[in-house]
Amino acid sequence: MAGNSASVRGSFGSKFGVIAAAAGSAVGLGNIWKFPYITGVYGGAAFLFVYLGFIVAIGLPVMISEFTIGRKARKNAFGSFKKLAPKTPWYVTGFLGVGAAYLILSFYGVVAGWAMNYTVEALKGSFNGKTPDELTSFFTSFIASPFKPIFWQLSFMFLTGLIVIMGVQKGIERYSKLLMPLLVVILIILMFRSMTLPGASKGLAFLFKPDFSKLTWEGVLSALGHAFFSLSLGMGTLITYGSYINNKNNLGKTALQVTLADTVIAIFAGMVILPAVFAFNIEPGAGPGLVFITLPNVFLQMPGGYFFSILFFILLTVAALTSSISILEVVVAFLSEELKMSRRIATILAASSIALVGAFCSLSMGHLDYAIFLGKNFFDTVDFFSANIFLPFGGLFISLFMGWHLGRKKTLKELSNHGEIKIWYIKPLIFSLRFIAPIAIFIVSIYGIYENVVSYLASLN
Ligand code: PFF
Repeated sequence: MAGNSASVRGSFGSKFGVIAAAAGSAVGLGNIWKFPYITGVYGGAAFLFVYLGFIVAIGLPVMISEFTIGRKARKNAFGSFKKLAPKTPWYVTGFLGVGAAYLILSFYGVVAGWAMNYTVEALKGSFNGKTPDELTSFFTSFIASPFKPIFWQLSFMFLTGLIVIMGVQKGIERYSKLLMPLLVVILIILMFRSMTLPGASKGLAFLFKPDFSKLTWEGVLSALGHAFFSLSLGMGTLITYGSYINNKNNLGKTALQVTLADTVIAIFAGMVILPAVFAFNIEPGAGPGLVFITLPNVFLQMPGGYFFSILFFILLTVAALTSSISILEVVVAFLSEELKMSRRIATILAASSIALVGAFCSLSMGHLDYAIFLGKNFFDTVDFFSANIFLPFGGLFISLFMGWHLGRKKTLKELSNHGEIKIWYIKPLIFSLRFIAPIAIFIVSIYGIYENVVSYLASLN
């Protein structure tokens, strides 16, 4: 029966297709744009180690849970909870997930639009002959201008919608299978270039030699939030994708492969960006502008920089696209299954309304920058709340749902494909879902939010 309904709903066609789509979702701006700069901001290797700890102890168990919930229910994020826990409030988790998807894509599309614009600028050779100060104002005046970034954000959302409209296998899976290998090849070429620059080793030391005295609670919260963000967890993306995975797939193995791919690619991205930044004596804690200001600067000074700058921004755009389709699919699957819309109408409605909210995110960098909430503009507020609050709390509820509501027996049945595969890790998995993940998420979130509010209040005086 499950197989039947899956084929009506759309499903992934092959094992590689599942990996490409799920790793495509996980690997995105989070890995290439965000990971290197937050590693820079929070002090390097110490942050990386905390992040890796969260990936293993919390991320992997939550990813296995999302796949399991989705495949068992064969429904969208909201419908899955309703089906597996009828007449209980668990569906709120799915509902929050759809909301988080909506918000995340609205600012994600803006940054992806920047990446598209920078691909074109790189092609035109626009960075040539610019001083570091000129590159800074090139970026800041671009993102603050009213039309250009919105034009690119809309173009990006259009591409995203186009792929999603084609369906799970003919759209999402096909393009992920095409784009993910391209991404890996470009990344490896860039890594080679960066690591062979004179002075690159300082960047590697920054990335791999920890100094735990630099770590703050805010850094720990960001590491947790980023573990969720980077693995695409906490809002039902992988529940939705899980619902398209066939009954023979080894979900635990798939989750492990996706987690490894995401982590390795983030570290590779760090190895592209940080050695280059150090080789040219640039500040690694430059923040969100790191890849848009610092890197063009680096490319200008490096042999072959014109060519590598084009490759880099294509890489960024491709990575963003395979992630944004997964985010849009959360909303589209919800609208089409729960509100009985056709895929086409659901996609048009979701993509265009998200683009509208995104336009406000974009404008908040310039014309609407007076709208400040807790010291942050609209863009930063959406980023902060969705990544650091919605996703971890979504992950907390998903852990509790699997650990306590579904419980060990039902989880084991689904995860082992009804007894076909041996699940040696069921004990630590359930233990993490019942205790480690929820308690750690709770403590880290509360402390992190507290520290944020305190530092905001202090900034008022
Ligand atoms: N994982 C993506 C990235 O690292 O860029 C972003 C993302 C996709 C976050 C899907 C959340 C999500 F559900």
